[in-house]
Amino acid sequence: CRIVVLISGRGSNMQTIVNTVREAGLSARVCAVIANKADAAGLQWAHNNGIATQVVAHRDYATRDDFDAALAEAVEAHAPQYVLLAGFMRVLTPGFVERFNGRLINIHPSLLPAFPGLHTHQQALATGVQWHGCTVHFVTPVLDHGPIIAQGMVPVLAGDTPDDLAARLLQVEHRIYADVVRWLAEGRVTLDSMQRVLVRGVD
Ligand code: GRF
Repeated sequence: CRIVVLISGRGSNMQTIVNTVREAGLSARVCAVIANKADAAGLQWAHNNGIATQVVAHRDYATRDDFDAALAEAVEAHAPQYVLLAGFMRVLTPGFVERFNGRLINIHPSLLPAFPGLHTHQQALATGVQWHGCTVHFVTPVLDHGPIIAQGMVPVLAGDTPDDLAARLLQVEHRIYADVVRWLAEGRVTLDSMQRVLVRGVD
């Protein structure tokens, strides 16, 4: 199972993906880590850990379509079975999403369908929810939408700041992305005709 990971920044979810594939001895491989920004900190970690890295800088392209075409070409060069978005902060065009239909997966720091978009921790605190969470889902052309593969939850505690909540949630993000990577590598994830996710062997 060949995997390409797309990042924009720190890359802690990407590190979890790489480490999971390696530690669990799965028949999977992270072929490349691609970022839309040259200063994405995760690139250095990936390089130091022997993973091919590449930058496709969105600023170098006049339009979103041009950027997505270049990104798609860079991704396709690795012939991945799955493309995992891990803190990738660019909205992808429908053309890109459709090209990788059923193979493009994202992690979003909320319990979707609540709080799509940015600033999810602030949104959770402002709304007064008592539970917050994260979602790994197949990407569809609608932002932060699409068939859900896994979710994880954390409590919202009195006095939490957005940063407190983000830090608590990040641990759970890593756990559920690791689970999903194992399931993908073991070929256990399918979409049925209703676009619902089935994971074999999980209750
Ligand atoms: C994560 O919280 C992810 O869900 C979000 O951006 C953050 C990226 O963190 N969309 P990292 O780059 O994986 O460390």
